[in-house]
Amino acid sequence: MATVKTVTTADAAAKLDELLWVVLWQPLGLPRDIRHTLSLEGEEFELLAQENGQVVGGLVAVWTGGTEIELRHLAVASHAQGHGIGRSLVTEFYRIAKTKNCERIHTIARNTSGEFFRMLGFQTAPGQAPEHPIFREHGISFELMERFVEQGTPADCSTAARSRGG
Ligand SMILES: CC(C)(COP(=O)(O)OP(=O)(O)OC[C@H]1O[C@@H](n2cnc3c(N)ncnc32)[C@H](O)[C@@H]1OP(=O)(O)O)[C@@H](O)C(=O)NCCC(=O)NCCS
Repeated sequence: MATVKTVTTADAAAKLDELLWVVLWQPLGLPRDIRHTLSLEGEEFELLAQENGQVVGGLVAVWTGGTEIELRHLAVASHAQGHGIGRSLVTEFYRIAKTKNCERIHTIARNTSGEFFRMLGFQTAPGQAPEHPIFREHGISFELMERFVEQGTPADCSTAARSRGG
């Protein structure tokens, strides 16, 4: 069972950075500092999932406005995918967003993860999704997605998604 914790040390931040690189960008041949290129203005927070002392997943979010937060990066190690770690990360993220009175979570989902986000209560958001030639070469397109934070309901993405029949 993986544990999900907020990143508070430089060591944990470095492990998260490496995981994101290995899962998200290295397979596409993108440069090692691509995360820096993709960074946004705003207060950032990070979550790390670990299992038996090994890093198996991570999430980066950025406050983009008063009550809005962007889920910027999400990755689960390839050998650990499909075991509920992505769901645990997003559920913890949702819980934290809720405690901070966030009203809307948004993300730029890859076409390969859109269904995952839909299962967790996200829906298509208005606006034009970005395009990137290198991602397109690898068959990756993007979709803007959002989830409104429901105050007064359990802070659990899986509960909300299931109650919608997701
Ligand atoms: C997408 C990702 C974060 C999902 O994490 P995960 O730990 O593999 O997913 P979970 O095991 O928590 O899955 C939760 C549910 O979503 C489903 N799901 C997971 N990935 C899915 C996908 N790509 N498409 C459709 N459904 C998916 C699972 O079957 C599961 O459903 P269930 O509860 O009915 O069994 C992970 O696979 C990953 O890192 N992929 C590569 C990088 C990526 O695409 N990141 C997102 C960038 S926007």
